[in-house]
Amino acid sequence: MTGRAKVAVLISGRGSNMAALLYASRLPDCPFEIVLVASDKADAAGLKLAEAEGVATFAAPAGLKRAELFATLDGALRASGAEFLALAGFMRILPYDFVTRWNGRIVNIHPSLLPKYKGLDTHARALDARDLVAGCSVHIVTAELDDGPVLGQVEVAVLPSDTPDSLAARVLIAEHQLYPRALAAFVMRDRTPEAKLARVRDLAMALPGAEETTSHGMACFRVAGGKMYCYFTEDHHGDGITAVIVKTSGPDEQAQLIDQDPDIYYRPAYFGPSGWVGLKLHHDIDWDRVEDRIAASWSLVAPRKLAMLREF
Ligand code: GAR
Repeated sequence: MTGRAKVAVLISGRGSNMAALLYASRLPDCPFEIVLVASDKADAAGLKLAEAEGVATFAAPAGLKRAELFATLDGALRASGAEFLALAGFMRILPYDFVTRWNGRIVNIHPSLLPKYKGLDTHARALDARDLVAGCSVHIVTAELDDGPVLGQVEVAVLPSDTPDSLAARVLIAEHQLYPRALAAFVMRDRTPEAKLARVRDLAMALPGAEETTSHGMACFRVAGGKMYCYFTEDHHGDGITAVIVKTSGPDEQAQLIDQDPDIYYRPAYFGPSGWVGLKLHHDIDWDRVEDRIAASWSLVAPRKLAMLREF
């Protein structure tokens, strides 16, 4: 597999779910690797464990205000190269702009069968309600607390003798089974051509005047009724390549890009002679680079008025 998905884990305490993810990542064929364990608490026990296992760690300094804390965490997470964030007992509510910046790429484990018992004290609440079944959920994080789409759940029977602690202990065993599998499935889903197209679409359509259309069976993007600046190609004529094709300033830039990074850039059939370049969307592609190339291509064809709109 080219490049495993890079995951950073956020913890606030013990970190047993983080450990479950870390050890799962060491199994053959696991599609993710843990690139950082970060915490809002310097004394989180899980940080020591991660360190002992040779994983990079980051602890936010004490006493930061909420906005500063999340800006600091965000800096460390980005610097780690993480593509996904896995919350594992991270006991902070994420600010809206942090969630939007990570755009559907944060997952969380929660000790209840969501949508039941969002928030805290889930086990006591399940016992108070005399539920016969408790459990845990992994879900995508949205700005709303414990509310995003559920990726997987495991049910755990409630025993008549259960206390919140005894139930929590069994649910935790279920959590350790669920989280690595749900995360693996989630990162794999992100690697399908459909998911890559969705991401390209997000980037291409964010530019002023963008319009989507199709040409020769490819999704492509143009400036309102005018010129194309980005094509999405998936196994075109059986070439096995998933890529975006974007404009360069001309043959010199095209040749330079291919020269510098022949694993990523190529001269696409049909488009190549007119100075377009192909950028292969490998699983570990740096999406900031894709964004920059699409924007640069757009700038080459956008009418002056629209280009000015983007500058301001
Ligand atoms: C886990 O049970 C997790 O589901 C829960 O905190 C515990 C952390 O344990 N998370 C939440 O309640 C989030 N709302 P761990 O640090 O050993 O993984």
